[in-house]
Amino acid sequence: MVSSYVIYAAVPISVVVAVGLIRKWRSRSWAKCSSNTCLRGKTFLITGANSGIGLETAKALVKRKARVIFACRNIEKAKQAIAGIRKEQPIGGELIPMQLDLASFDSIQNFVGVVKAGFNKIDVLINNAGVSIPLKEDLKTKEGFEIHVGVNHLGHFYLTYLLLDLLKRASPSRVVVVSSTLHERGKLDFSDLNLRGAIEEAKKGKADRHNAGYCNSKLMNAYFARGLSAKLKSSGVDVNACCPGFCYTNLFRYFVRWYHYILMAPIALFFMRSAKQGSETVVYCATDYRIEGHTGKFYRDCAEYNSKYPFTKEEETKLWSISEEMIKARKPVKN
Ligand SMILES: NC(=O)c1ccc[n+]([C@@H]2O[C@H](COP(=O)([O-])OP(=O)(O)OC[C@H]3O[C@@H](n4cnc5c(N)ncnc54)[C@H](OP(=O)(O)O)[C@@H]3O)[C@@H](O)[C@H]2O)c1
Repeated sequence: MVSSYVIYAAVPISVVVAVGLIRKWRSRSWAKCSSNTCLRGKTFLITGANSGIGLETAKALVKRKARVIFACRNIEKAKQAIAGIRKEQPIGGELIPMQLDLASFDSIQNFVGVVKAGFNKIDVLINNAGVSIPLKEDLKTKEGFEIHVGVNHLGHFYLTYLLLDLLKRASPSRVVVVSSTLHERGKLDFSDLNLRGAIEEAKKGKADRHNAGYCNSKLMNAYFARGLSAKLKSSGVDVNACCPGFCYTNLFRYFVRWYHYILMAPIALFFMRSAKQGSETVVYCATDYRIEGHTGKFYRDCAEYNSKYPFTKEEETKLWSISEEMIKARKPVKN
């Protein structure tokens, strides 16, 4: 009798231990940011700092005594995130909540006005916020752009443009663009950047396994980092893109149904990083002194990553000028 209880208990315990060990073994290949430089006096601005990778990046920076501006769509969520960090780390750093909706050019302009009234320099801008939403939802930004193009790419394009003088003043300074290796699945059709065709297909029920809107916006992020780094060469502002890896965060909230938790559990356990593990490469790009002066690169696992995407100068220039036109058409571009 007693021995059957022992067997019943031993089976689940061994499974948990085995899963734990396999996960530990898997995570050995996920790099960690080894630099621990004190960041006192430096100002970091993170978009989407209330959740997932942005939140974990903010925690790591506060631990290193930085001043961090939490640029969040929902100011209450920003305050809650800050209160949570303060419980874990009662002293050190400075945490500032601010409202920023990247789906609205007015919000971006107002936000930059507030930043400029309070700060004369930004040492590191981390363009982290992002959405991944099924195309069939046909969501748009306030200006009418497809949601991934509008938030993940154009919103950050406009924000960075408006903050350039503060970044130049802080030189040597950095812009970190959080992209994804899914940019390699992106395909830019300049006659339909807002994906009218793909949205109509998705509405008819045609499956879109990799979300073209998301992949394209991550490709635009990678191109933006390359284009901006070229424009800012010798200004002392380094611009790099990075991929945090496949992480368990709120990003997939629009796709996940209850049964996915069961089906995806083995994948999540063996292949998905925690948000903290994902933040390591972002923190590396934002703080590691050993890559100062490196610009126009793509990083993954705290190391340079050779993208399989066939980047061309022609596509980069075209995307840059169309992005400028898209913004100018809705908003007079002035600094
Ligand atoms: N998770 C992954 O596997 C993975 C892999 C590769 C790359 N990435 C990239 O990592 C970045 C962070 O994503 P995550 O995984 O940490 O997801 P997340 O937990 O969903 O965080 C996304 C953040 O972006 C914010 N955001 C969304 N729309 C916004 C808007 N219009 N204006 C301002 N902020 C907005 C969200 O605010 P709310 O909380 O208010 O929605 C949230 O704070 C994204 O750029 C994503 O593409 C993630």
